[in-house]
Amino acid sequence: MTVEILIFGAGAVGAFYGSRLANAPDTQVSVVCRSNYKAVKANGFTVKSPQYGDYTWSPTRTFASPEDARKSKTKWDYIVVSTKALPDVSDDSQQLEGLVGDGTGIVLIQNGLGVEGPYNRRFPKATVLSAVTVISAAQPEHGLIQHNRWTRINVGPYLPEQGVEDEKAMACNKKFVELLNAGGVKDASAYSHAKLQLVRWHKIAINAAFNPSSVLSGGSSNATMALDSEAQLHIKGVMDEVLTTGPKVLNTQFPKEFATSEAILRSTQKNTSGSRPSMWADWESGKRMELEVILGNPIRIAREKGFEMPRLQSLYALLKLAQENRDKGNERSKL
Ligand SMILES: NC(=O)c1ccc[n+]([C@@H]2O[C@H](COP(=O)([O-])OP(=O)(O)OC[C@H]3O[C@@H](n4cnc5c(N)ncnc54)[C@H](OP(=O)(O)O)[C@@H]3O)[C@@H](O)[C@H]2O)c1
Repeated sequence: MTVEILIFGAGAVGAFYGSRLANAPDTQVSVVCRSNYKAVKANGFTVKSPQYGDYTWSPTRTFASPEDARKSKTKWDYIVVSTKALPDVSDDSQQLEGLVGDGTGIVLIQNGLGVEGPYNRRFPKATVLSAVTVISAAQPEHGLIQHNRWTRINVGPYLPEQGVEDEKAMACNKKFVELLNAGGVKDASAYSHAKLQLVRWHKIAINAAFNPSSVLSGGSSNATMALDSEAQLHIKGVMDEVLTTGPKVLNTQFPKEFATSEAILRSTQKNTSGSRPSMWADWESGKRMELEVILGNPIRIAREKGFEMPRLQSLYALLKLAQENRDKGNERSKL
C-alpha cells in the first residue's frame, strides 16, 4: 500500500529528506511550502549533493499552505515537521490541525529540546516520533537544496511516560527508518525514547556551544572557535556543562560511543571548510534564532529538576537581548 508522506516546512532539511523518502518504493511525498511555493510548484526541487549527485525532485503534491493541504483530504501516514523550531514565534503544531489522523506518525526533524511537547499534547492519539539529524544542508535560493555532507539521522518514538512500551509507536518508528534506508539514507537508525532523548541532549551540547558563540563573537567559524586558545576553553566549558547535566536530568548515562567534548573539539579543529553554525546565518539575515529550543528549554528543563547551567544561562540572556535589540533596530529602520 502506498505510504503518504507530507513534509511541513520544505526547506533544507525537509526537502532533502523528502527527496530521499520519495526514492523508497511505494511512497508518495508531498510538501507544504511557504516562500518557496512558486519556485517549487513550477520546477520542483533541485538537489545538489556530493553523495547522491545532482537531481530534480518533483513532490507528488505541492501545497501553498496547510489550508491547501487540508483541502486535498489525503490520509497522511507520516507528517514530517522540519520548520525551524521557534515556539516564541508560533506554535506550529496548530498548523497541523485537520491534517493529523489517529494513525498518523508526526516526525519532528528539528534541533533542540522540548520540541515534541506541543504535538504530543495537541494530538494525543497520533504517534510522535522525535528525530535528530547530523547533516549540513542549505536552501541558497528557492527550490535549490544544497546538501553538503552527512546524513546521520536517529529517530525514536516520543513516549515521555516512564517505562511505557507502545508497540504501535515502535512499529511506526521502525517503518519510518526503513523508508529512509530504502530511500538511500543508510545511516538512519531507530532508537528507543530514552536513547533518543540522550541524543537530543548530546546534540544540544554542540549546538548550545557553537551556535550562540558564533553570533556573540561576530561570526566566527566552528574551527576558529575550536582553535582559539580562550574560545576553545569556553566552548569546552559549555559542552561539558550540558554533557554533565543531561544525564542527571534523564537519570541515565550517555552510551560509551557518544563523543566526548575533547573528541568534538578535535574533529571541529580539523574541519577547515570555514563553516559557521546556521544560527549565524539566521542572525545575519535578520531572522529569529532557535534560542528557546537550543538554550531556553534546556535551562528550564534542567532547572525543574534542580540543576543550573550558568554558562548556558549567560549565553541565553545575552543573545535574547541582542535579538530584541536587533529587531527593535529593524523596526526603527522601517519607519
Ligand atoms: N540545515 C541544516 O544543515 C540542519 C542540520 C541539523 C539540524 N537542522 C535543524 O532542522 C530544522 C530545519 O532547518 P532547515 O535548515 O531545514 O531550515 P530552513 O531551510 O529554514 O527550512 C524551514 C522551512 O520551513 C518553512 N516554514 C516555516 N514555517 C512554515 C509554515 N508555517 N508553513 C509552511 N512552511 C513553513 C520555511 O519557509 P520560509 O522559507 O518561508 O521561512 C522553510 O522553507 C531546524 O530545527 C534546524 O535547526 C538543520
